Amino acid sequence: MIAGLPIAARSAPASQDEGRDVYAQNCAMCHSTGVGGAPKVGSFDDWRPRLASGPSGLLVSVLRGKGGMPPKGGNASLSKTDAHAALEYMLSLAK
Ligand code: HEC
Repeated sequence: MIAGLPIAARSAPASQDEGRDVYAQNCAMCHSTGVGGAPKVGSFDDWRPRLASGPSGLLVSVLRGKGGMPPKGGNASLSKTDAHAALEYMLSLAK
């Protein structure tokens, strides 16, 4: 499907399907490799300092953009629900 999708995604439960798809299409290009300083999916060390903001603080960063990340990862048509689903998916792998 999409290059760079973590192996764990293939066995994700159905409830994560939407987040996984949104992630694969809008976030993976930066967050699968950590390009430009993006916290890498699956790396708890990359995420640990950011988790202090809490999921809602992180969601604000996604919606507004932060540093090298454009608002909504650059996809202006992404809904808040979709952005949230992708965030949840990313965090579920950062353990
Ligand atoms: C163009 C590359 C790029 C894309 C696409 C991208 N990100 Fe990011 N993301 C980054 C970078 C770079 C950072 C680090 C920003 C910083 O802390 O300066 C980041 C940081 C984050 C953070 C941590 C924010 C914080 O407050 O510490 C979250 C959460 C996140 N991204 C989620 C997402 C989600 C969800 C998507 C898809 C909808 C996405 N990103 C798409 C590059 C990207």
